Amino acid sequence: MKRNIAVFASGSGSNFEAIARACADGTLNARIAVCVVDKPRAYAIVRAESLGIPVLVLSPKDFPSKREYEKEIADRLDRENVELVCLAGYMRIVGDELLSRYGGKIINIHPALLPAFPGAHAIEDSFRYGVKVFGVTIHYVDETLDGGKIISQVAVPYEGSDIAELEAMIHKAEHKLYVDTVRCLLCE
Ligand code: GRF
Repeated sequence: MKRNIAVFASGSGSNFEAIARACADGTLNARIAVCVVDKPRAYAIVRAESLGIPVLVLSPKDFPSKREYEKEIADRLDRENVELVCLAGYMRIVGDELLSRYGGKIINIHPALLPAFPGAHAIEDSFRYGVKVFGVTIHYVDETLDGGKIISQVAVPYEGSDIAELEAMIHKAEHKLYVDTVRCLLCE
C-alpha cells in the first residue's frame, strides 16, 4: 500500500518535483496526496499541475489568523491520511496548530550543514563566509527556525568562486538526500 505524504513549497519546487518523480517511478512507495503552496505565483504550482498532483494554494493573509490558516491545511492532511509532511522551500515558521497535530511528522530540508547557517539565505551566507565544505541537512521541524533534531546530512565540498555553480551542486545533492531520507523514514 502506498503511503500518503504531503509536500509544502513556496517557490520553485524542484525538491517537490524530485520527490514526485521518485513516487512516480517507484523509488518511493508513496504518493503525494497534496502539495501545499502559500504563494499564488510559485512555480511549484506549475510543476504540480503538469505532474497531475493536487495542489492546495492558500494565502495566509486571506485568513484571520495563522491558526485558522494552519487549521485548514491540517484538516486537509487529516482527510488525506497524510503520514509525513515534507517542507521543501516552504518559507514559513510552522505554528502551533500544525505542530500540535502533525508534530514529529514534519521534516524540512535546509541547504547548509546545520546548525551552521540557519535562515533563508544559507547558501549565500556560507559562500560569503568562505566555507569550503557546504552541504544539506534534513531535520524534524519544531517551533524554532531550522532548529529541530537532525535526521540526515550530506557534505558538498566546493572551493570555486561561482555561486551559481555551487547552488546547482547543492540542489542536486538536496534532491537525492530528500528522496533517500523520505524512503528511510517511510520504512521505519
Ligand atoms: C532549497 O534550497 C531548500 O533547501 C530551501 O529552499 C530551497 C527550495 O528550493 N529550504 P526548491 O523550491 O525545492 O527548488
